[in-house]
Amino acid sequence: MTKCLIAASILSANFACLGQEINDVIHAGADIIHFDVMDNHYVPNITIGPTVLKAIRDYGINSIIDVHLMTKPVDNLIIPFAQAGADYITFHPENTYHVDRSINLIKQCGCKVGLALTPTTPLSYLDYVLEKIDIILIMAVNPGYAGQTFLPVIYNKIQNINNIVKKQTNKILLSVDGGININNISKIVICGANILVIGSFIFNNTMPYIQTIKYIKKKIFIK
Ligand code: DX5
Ligand code: ZN
Repeated sequence: MTKCLIAASILSANFACLGQEINDVIHAGADIIHFDVMDNHYVPNITIGPTVLKAIRDYGINSIIDVHLMTKPVDNLIIPFAQAGADYITFHPENTYHVDRSINLIKQCGCKVGLALTPTTPLSYLDYVLEKIDIILIMAVNPGYAGQTFLPVIYNKIQNINNIVKKQTNKILLSVDGGININNISKIVICGANILVIGSFIFNNTMPYIQTIKYIKKKIFIK
């Protein structure tokens, strides 16, 4: 039996009541909170920073939070996000001069490390760092916006990465981010995803969160 975790991407939550939204989605069954950081430089959009993360922790949210840094550069944000309460810090390797150094900095801060790959980022970015990382965030849309369509070419990419990580002795989780909905979930899990990052399908839908997450969970248990 394969089990996959659900990471709720709060990019699609109502920011006017973010603490309550996060509480609600966690109580509805989300396993992880996915915190999208955009800088209007690496991506054409701007979102939230360490101050908002700290406010969420101060509000009483103690779930696992994965900070997805869609920023360039990367290193100057690692310590502030770690101090604000990140569990995972995930970055795009092409945005830092020294990938190994950024990884080490995240680990020194006591956080787990994720590497994010856009749909066209080559797998060679994983070379020489697999022993050190905890998550590979496979983006199925171009970074920058919620509500985009899953690119079908990514099914194959998930399988290819799964074949690589299976040979590792350290456990690396495969997280898939962008365009996930009830129609493509099963196929994504079969390809090897361990974490599904889902934003609009949870937050922008007429069903209560609990009903949506139950509906998703039914689809992600695969014999
Ligand atoms: C896109 C973000 C995603 C996105 C997911 O740049 O990294 O996390 O918000 O949202 P949906 O599920 O709407 O594609
Ligand atoms: Zn994301």
